[in-house]
Amino acid sequence: MSERAQFATKMGVIATSVGSAVGLGNIWRFPYEAGVHGGGAFILIYILCVLLLGIPVIIAEFVIGRSTHKNANSAIKLLAPGSKFRYVSYIGIIASVMILSFYSVVAGWILEYLFQSIIGNLNGHTSQEYSEMFNSLTGSPWRSVLWTTLFLGANFFILRKGVQKGIERISNLLMPILFLLLLLFCVNSLLLPNAQKGIEFMFRPDFTQISPSMIVGAMGQAFFSLSLGLTCLLTYASYFNDKTPLVKSATIIAILDTFVAILAGIIIFPAVFSFGAEPTAGPKLVFEILPNIFQQMPGGYLWSIAFFILLFFASITSTISMSEIFITFCTEEYRMSRKKATRINIAIALVLGTLCALSFNSLSHITLFDKTVFDLFDYISSNIMLPAGGFILAVFVGWVMNKNIVKKQLTNNGELNVRTMRPILFCIKYVAPIAIVVIFLYVIGFFDYVSTLLF
Ligand code: TRP
Repeated sequence: MSERAQFATKMGVIATSVGSAVGLGNIWRFPYEAGVHGGGAFILIYILCVLLLGIPVIIAEFVIGRSTHKNANSAIKLLAPGSKFRYVSYIGIIASVMILSFYSVVAGWILEYLFQSIIGNLNGHTSQEYSEMFNSLTGSPWRSVLWTTLFLGANFFILRKGVQKGIERISNLLMPILFLLLLLFCVNSLLLPNAQKGIEFMFRPDFTQISPSMIVGAMGQAFFSLSLGLTCLLTYASYFNDKTPLVKSATIIAILDTFVAILAGIIIFPAVFSFGAEPTAGPKLVFEILPNIFQQMPGGYLWSIAFFILLFFASITSTISMSEIFITFCTEEYRMSRKKATRINIAIALVLGTLCALSFNSLSHITLFDKTVFDLFDYISSNIMLPAGGFILAVFVGWVMNKNIVKKQLTNNGELNVRTMRPILFCIKYVAPIAIVVIFLYVIGFFDYVSTLLF
């Protein structure tokens, strides 16, 4: 690849990465995972994961991408010729397609909810009816496949026309509006009767809730929400220029992303308790709660339309970033045309996405480890592949890469005085890799096994 474009402004860098990070992971997945895992304690561990694993791994991805201006595979080949670490790009490609598949199903639900809002059907029902509405959508094979296909079609169109920069620009304009809308919804939720209970659920940790599945869930959620471990941010960083401050950008991205997730929680949980719903509802949580919120707001009809449109844009900037991993790899490593790479990427996602959509209805009986195709894709990619990718990238930057290159990258060739350099390098080298391995061992029951041997 001869000439690669570069982001012209710092705003471009942060906005694009935030565009990738902020999406359904924050607004749909975070509240449901926090709800399933008991609230406060999950959120606390989630925040620890963002600080100790998330920020260091974002920086590791940035360092590899910006120091080489190449995709993961060529970057690692260049930095450490002959090293097997480059196989991390295959984890990235496989997991990115898996995530794109189930993510498109959920984004499809957003489209249906947008449609229902527009025709005025999201108003004037009971909680029970909203619950039935969601079940009838996911229970209908043709409706869920149709919306998934439409969402992937929109992705295809954007990537194919090469207008993703334009979409990102529109999205950058819309994201601050989404942010304001979320703030407003927060105020509304805090004023609901019983709101207090929701806030306590989120911010008063109950440490008896801590379990292996909760910790691995919090780690997976942190990686998912920050778009980490799949070399997605690495690919974006390969377009950064030499002036981009890596540590500062990574910190801003992590803070903004976490802030949006917490806002989503403050919108959902007071409402959950106010409407007498269950926080443990799982993937359907926000889809059952949001319509209840909108209908008690003055002007709810318009708020709901605006919200689902903005969420659609937030989702599409995230899925564009997933596709970019696959497309950049195919065009740069196999000299495939961009059009062909896009076609293949979307075609695979369409087949797998259809399976995910059908796993709520016609294929719901097909399960492995008690999980449907949708759940399995989500679990394997988010909780296993992303942290595994993050582990490999952190070890590579901490132990394999030339230290001088790493330091030069963090300080922009000595121009910046990065006071947090030592703790960051320490986290990349020790804390992140060790924590990821320990969490994996914990979840497979290794420590229980050892304690039965010892006692
Ligand atoms: N972070 C995005 C969200 O929260 C999802 C996402 C986009 C992602 N690109 C990714 C997750 C790459 C993992 C890897 O919605």
